[in-house]
Amino acid sequence: MSNMKEELRKLADDFHQQTDNAADLTELDALRVKYMGKKGPLTAVLRSMGSLSPEERPLMGQLVNQVREEMETTLDNKKSALRIAEKNLKLASETIDISLPGSSSGSGARHPLTRVIDEICEVFLNLGYQIAEGPEIELDRYNFELLRIPEGHPARDTQDTFYMSDNILLRTQTSPVQIRVMEEQKPPLKIICPGKVYRSDTLDATHSPIFHQIEGLVVDKDVTMGDLIGSLQLFARQLFGENTKIRLRPHHFPFTEPSCEVDITCWTCGGSGCRTCKGEGWIEILGAGMVHPEVLSNCGIDPEIYSGFAFGIGVERTAMGRYGIDDIRHFYENDVRFLKQFK
Ligand code: DAH
Repeated sequence: MSNMKEELRKLADDFHQQTDNAADLTELDALRVKYMGKKGPLTAVLRSMGSLSPEERPLMGQLVNQVREEMETTLDNKKSALRIAEKNLKLASETIDISLPGSSSGSGARHPLTRVIDEICEVFLNLGYQIAEGPEIELDRYNFELLRIPEGHPARDTQDTFYMSDNILLRTQTSPVQIRVMEEQKPPLKIICPGKVYRSDTLDATHSPIFHQIEGLVVDKDVTMGDLIGSLQLFARQLFGENTKIRLRPHHFPFTEPSCEVDITCWTCGGSGCRTCKGEGWIEILGAGMVHPEVLSNCGIDPEIYSGFAFGIGVERTAMGRYGIDDIRHFYENDVRFLKQFK
C-alpha cells in the first residue's frame, strides 16, 4: 500500500508539473489523456487495488479519488489560464488603430436644376402660391385637347412626344396641371407646378427629350394682365436681382389670349449687350398670357365671372443662363467634375 501511495504521489507531482508547463490547450488535452485516460497510470493504480487487503482498499480508493480531483482542478485552472492568454494574444495581434482617419466619400451638392427649381418655387411660395403636381404620363385630353390644341393643330408638330397609346402620352408641358387643378378646385387659385416634361427631340447642345418646366396659374375675379406683369416683374427681381427689368413680346399660345414671351435684362451685362445675350441685352425666360376663356369653361369655371393668368418657365434654359452652362447634356451626364462646381 505505501508503494502505491508513493506511486500515486509521484504521478500527481509529474502531472502538476507538466500541466504547469503546457503551452497550449492541445498540449493540455494530451496530458489529460496521458494521465487520466483508460490506458493511463491512474487507471492502472485503480486496477491494481485488487491486491490490497479489504481494509486497505477503501482507504486507497479515497486517496485515488482525492488525487483525481486535484488533477482535475489543476487541469481546469490551467485551461482557463490558457484561454485567457490565447484571447489576450489575439487581442494584441488584431488591434485596430481607431485614431487613423477614415476614407472619406466626400459630400455632394444639390444638382443645379434642383437648385433653380427650389429657388423659383421659393419666390412664388412667398407670394402665396401653392405647389401642385400632375402625372408625367398624361392623357391627350389634358396635355392638348382641353388646352385648345386639338388633333391636327400645328402646335402639336413642335411638341411631338412618346405615346403609350393613341390617347396616353408623356406630357410635353406642365400646362396640363392647370387643367387638373381647375377641374378639382374652385377659384381663387394660385399654384406653381414644377416637373419633368418630354418631347421626342434628338439630344444636342440645346435639346433634350426630357427637361423641366415650372408652370404658374392664378385664377380669381378681376385678374388682369397688369397682375401678370406685376407678378413677373417681382419674380424677376427676386431671382435675378433688384435692377432686373422685364419685357413682353406678343406671341401665340393656344391656351392663353393674349399671349406673350417674356424677356429679362441680361444677367451678365444688365442690358447693354454681351456674349451671354448675343448682343441683345435681353434674355427670354418664359411664356405667359391670360388664360383663354374657353380653357376656363372647359374646366367648369365661368369666364364671365373669373379670369386668370398663366406662365411657363423653362428650367434648363434658366439654369444654363445663370451658371454659364453651354451644353444641356451636362445636366444629365452625372459627371462629378461638373456637379462639383455647384457646391
Ligand atoms: N406650355 C408652354 C410650352 O411648353 C409654355 C407656356 C406658355 C405655359 C404660356 C403657359 C403659358 O402657362 O401661359 O411651350
